[in-house]
Amino acid sequence: MNEKWWKEAVVYEIYPASFQDSNGDGKGDLRGILSRLDYLKELGVDVLWLCPIYESPEADNGYDISDYYAINPAFGTMADFDELVEEAHKRGLKIMMDLVLNHTSDQHPWFKESRSSKDNPKRDYYYWRPGQNGLFPNNWESYFSGSVWELDKQTDEYYMHLYSVHQPDLNWNNAEMVNELYRMIRWWLAKGVDGFRFDAIAHIVKAAGLPNADNPEHLPVVQAYQLFSNLEKVHDMLKKLNEEVLIEYDIMTVGETSGLGPEQALEYVGDERHELNMVFQFEHMYLDAARPGTGKWEPRAWTVMELKKVLSRWQTTLHGRGWNANYLGNHDQPRPVSRFGNDTVYRVESAKLLATLLFTLEGTPYLYQGEEIGMTNARFPSIHDYRDIETLNYYEQAKLQGMSEQQILEAVWRKSRDNARTPMQWDASASAGFTTGVPWIKLHPNHEDINVTQALQDPNSILHYYRALIRLRNENKVLVYGDYKLLLPLDPQLYVYTRTLGEEKVLVLLNFSGHEASFAWPEDLQEQTKELMLANYKGESDEDGQTLPLRPYEARLYRIHS
Ligand code: GLC
Repeated sequence: MNEKWWKEAVVYEIYPASFQDSNGDGKGDLRGILSRLDYLKELGVDVLWLCPIYESPEADNGYDISDYYAINPAFGTMADFDELVEEAHKRGLKIMMDLVLNHTSDQHPWFKESRSSKDNPKRDYYYWRPGQNGLFPNNWESYFSGSVWELDKQTDEYYMHLYSVHQPDLNWNNAEMVNELYRMIRWWLAKGVDGFRFDAIAHIVKAAGLPNADNPEHLPVVQAYQLFSNLEKVHDMLKKLNEEVLIEYDIMTVGETSGLGPEQALEYVGDERHELNMVFQFEHMYLDAARPGTGKWEPRAWTVMELKKVLSRWQTTLHGRGWNANYLGNHDQPRPVSRFGNDTVYRVESAKLLATLLFTLEGTPYLYQGEEIGMTNARFPSIHDYRDIETLNYYEQAKLQGMSEQQILEAVWRKSRDNARTPMQWDASASAGFTTGVPWIKLHPNHEDINVTQALQDPNSILHYYRALIRLRNENKVLVYGDYKLLLPLDPQLYVYTRTLGEEKVLVLLNFSGHEASFAWPEDLQEQTKELMLANYKGESDEDGQTLPLRPYEARLYRIHS
């Protein structure tokens, strides 16, 4: 298989506002990140993905950019950024920028001009449409609730925003606008950045004519996902971006592409496509809930069998043809240990089990800050403690629909993006070593027990287990490039697979439950020597060579010698 540095790399996602504050204003910043580079280096990660740090009024925490060429003063200066790149590179760490190309802030000068008059030269940089008989131009529903259309009084026309009203969508049919984006991307590349995460890239093209979505119930707005996601022309746009800009650089790219399966993903990441190195898929994120963006957060019970099925399909479909980006959590998702593990009795064991999965699948692993110490979902008692625009909009809508406060909070506790946005827990002090001021969002009270300082001191901590896993992945190419094969697809509790590369074979054994289990070695492996590479429990479990008893959330990694 084609070897690439970005296939072997481990990516660490930093949410700058919540990582490390250096100046006491309660908000994380670039100098804070600088002060933690050695921690990250010791963890063993290779690439730091920085969520947006550009100038922004922060209607959506920086995913609303008002100047692509400037650093948000709350995060520091351009000199701080240059220093961060330099210091990261000195340590062999790479920097990946989060670029939002689907929309800008409504405070971006382009949008200010665009909205000023119907014949402004930048009018066409965005989507403007007149109303339809006093109604919205079409019936599409926004990700953050309500219509995607907002009436702008100045010219009495509507503009489109798939996300919040403060995030107007850019019109990629306008070649001049696209050229402006190219110019900006070249500018960041010239600064020496090593890659991009392209935010919401699946949505940069909308269906021609912006038609209504099917709406049998005649609702004012409906989920219209298929009319603005993964359309054929997105691929033309990405190919052109590569031809015109990216081709010259040895960088890595990952696109955020919800709503597709692995076959369709190959259109982005297929080796011959020259579009993106990998994409973030969402199929495993939909298992426990209605799809985000539908405004419905009803719980759905997920099963281990479903999880295995989804991940295995991605593993086998992309093998040898494209490359996976693997993740269990990020700044938009609940904490993995609260969601797929058990964040009370088996927090440590299940966080380690999830890490074992993340680092032994084929694909580039992405971990999100705090995952390495097993941080858990926030469970704030009041909606006033929440900051996320999606959560607050959901709350308003749910109230209008007559849901009770308790029902809404329960949904928020499970699904809110703020679950993962509480400040990084560095130590047990009052503000967790995150700030000397008042944090912009409340700390999780469990920081007294769950924090980096504690984890560094405890040899059995989740943190040390992450380090060990990263080391193993670095030392064993079979974990990077090996062929994945699922065993026991019908087992409702165990997730077992092998990775094979030439003569090398590794078996990953995960008891994905809070109950004991027993694993029967398949016949072809019974006679072979098994060498334990890593496990999340101490002590041998008694082996008779044929069956292996497993404790709750037990994870084991074996090298199989033939
Ligand atoms: C992506 C980001 C999310 C943001 C949205 C709009 O989904 O991950 O945080 O709100 O795009 O930019």
